[in-house]
Amino acid sequence: MFIKIDRASEVPVYRQIYQRIIELIREGTLKPGQRLPPSRELARLLGVSRRTVSRAYDELIANHWLESRTGSGTFVSREVYEVKELFGEEEPPPKEEPPRPAAIDWSKFMLEMRFYSALPRERLPEGTIRFTQALPDPSSFPFEEIKRISTNLLWKPEHYYFDYSNPQGYPPLLDLLHEECELDGIDMGRNVVVVTMGFQQALDLVTSLLVEPGTAMVIEEPTYNATITLVKAKHFRTYTVPVGEEGVDLARLERRLRRGDVRLVVVTPTLHNPTTVTMGTEARMELIRICARHQVPILEDDYASDLHYRGMAHPTLKALDEAGAVILVRSFSKSLLPGLRIGYMVVPREIALSLVRLKRAVDKGNPAFFHVLLEQFMRKGFWRKHLGRIRRLYEHKLSLTLSALRKHLPDGVNFRAPEGGFFVWLRLPEKLSGEEALERMRENLVEAGVYNYFNYHRADGPGLRVAFSMVPADMIEPGIERLGRVLKELLSG
Ligand SMILES: Cc1ncc(COP(=O)(O)O)c(C=O)c1O
Repeated sequence: MFIKIDRASEVPVYRQIYQRIIELIREGTLKPGQRLPPSRELARLLGVSRRTVSRAYDELIANHWLESRTGSGTFVSREVYEVKELFGEEEPPPKEEPPRPAAIDWSKFMLEMRFYSALPRERLPEGTIRFTQALPDPSSFPFEEIKRISTNLLWKPEHYYFDYSNPQGYPPLLDLLHEECELDGIDMGRNVVVVTMGFQQALDLVTSLLVEPGTAMVIEEPTYNATITLVKAKHFRTYTVPVGEEGVDLARLERRLRRGDVRLVVVTPTLHNPTTVTMGTEARMELIRICARHQVPILEDDYASDLHYRGMAHPTLKALDEAGAVILVRSFSKSLLPGLRIGYMVVPREIALSLVRLKRAVDKGNPAFFHVLLEQFMRKGFWRKHLGRIRRLYEHKLSLTLSALRKHLPDGVNFRAPEGGFFVWLRLPEKLSGEEALERMRENLVEAGVYNYFNYHRADGPGLRVAFSMVPADMIEPGIERLGRVLKELLSG
């Protein structure tokens, strides 16, 4: 395959490979269905790193020039052929087509979210056991109750189900959530509930209000991928602070805050995603003291405290927050239905009105019907029953996962049994590359979440997230047996 790398060029090497392969496809040198050399081999031929070639291949796959077939390699996509057939184009377009001047260089605006093209749902071969999705098991969805409530509601529909809604949320739902927060020990004299479209909208609103141009925010490292993608999408200056065995590294955090440009710290003190670490009460109080001392608000991502199966849950930062420095965000995505898109924030009174105004400015209020549905679901007691049911379901899956891991993991791979949640975090020896591990896992019809998915800089690291919640109970052990085999091979190879 004829590819020449121009090292003096300003075009990155992976991009040169990308463009050249498209040219070779266009001129017909590479034919639909033709196999490309493995990334390792092409890298050796070109004298570049394997990662560079993989990146070019990944982008070509994402843009449908190539397709990857697990176990057999990378091929020129058949879609290229189909497109030609569709337009009746016999001959490839002439190579010397004069480039049309583009008024705008769109590449400047491209977001680095490559990972989405590396985890394409559709392209996984049948039979792959996926430990990548930390989502509720659809078999747990309470359809019967939802059917009953929505049938009743629609029997005699009210205009406000489908009118523009109150941007703070449906008032009876706000009342219920207010009571829940009081039960959790939060001072609801000083705080106000605002319902949002899940955690994601809350993060969007809070950052829009607090992180002004020229200022910065802190996120954890590693952290939840959707937090990373949102702060990237909004082009915030972002610092990362590592999460250790006790939670976010408080000494490093304080050093960062001393510089004076940080306007928000985002933390997940309970069942941190992906490491599952839960901060102790003393560390939580110290975190609040540090942030209050530097006048920096905390956004507490409490996505999983409903999914605590063992031991006692620690109080939220918000319940400990005498300083008034914490914005708590909760979600019904894991504990009920991600597609409801309902979460809520508990915010100090001082900023509540600004947040509601901002919310109205960007969405004019969320669909009220779903708020009414959730309010009824909670008021009729279905919510508590549902929580009891899913905790039993996931605790069972967690214990199957733990015993399979104990049986099948090679020496050198460690983990701590989490107290709840949807996944286990494996600590790997440093030498393993996540991308290589993912490739080998897919060849063996299994998948787990590799470290760079959770890293702001998309860097590799020694961790692997094994999410068990969506995997049918009888597939957990076979999947982990495959995973153990792959890790064994990688470690001995
Ligand atoms: C760390 C973390 N925060 C928040 C959420 C919930 O996000 P949302 O409410 O936007 O669905 C999740 C769910 O996947 C999560 O893992």
